[in-house]
Amino acid sequence: MKEEMENKIPTDPGLATLFEQARQAALNSYAPYSHFRVGAALRLTSGEVVCGTNVENASYGLTLCAERSALVRAVSQFGPEIRIEAAAIANLNNAPSPPCGACRQVLAEFILPDAQIIFASSTGVSTVTFSDIMPLAFDMKLK
Ligand code: THU
Repeated sequence: MKEEMENKIPTDPGLATLFEQARQAALNSYAPYSHFRVGAALRLTSGEVVCGTNVENASYGLTLCAERSALVRAVSQFGPEIRIEAAAIANLNNAPSPPCGACRQVLAEFILPDAQIIFASSTGVSTVTFSDIMPLAFDMKLK
């Protein structure tokens, strides 16, 4: 994460709460292989908050990240019309955990470009807009 991208969005109190919800979600992490416990909290435009955690597998590549766990849960629960207006990603390892590239691509289908993303970073906590961290997601419309 480049320095100039960090903390340029004023942090609203709702984001701090969302980050804490992500941290709580990480308590349910199943990470016996990496021991890296991640939680994600997605706030929908309806105001609902949906959380997820990483679920690892002995066949390592089958591991589900926290962000994608939360996303599939949100779509399963509320349907495909959902839109995400804010997302938080936390971990219990005191380490930076911006969403990985795969999760950014998956989130891109349902998240608003201006959605605020708050995540654990090397400087503590950083807030960026989704379009800052995913400027050119794959989209069939780009063909
Ligand atoms: N992980 C996430 O949950 N989210 C990410 O964006 C990146 C990584 C998880 C997957 C795996 O269980 C652990 O962190 C170590 O990579």
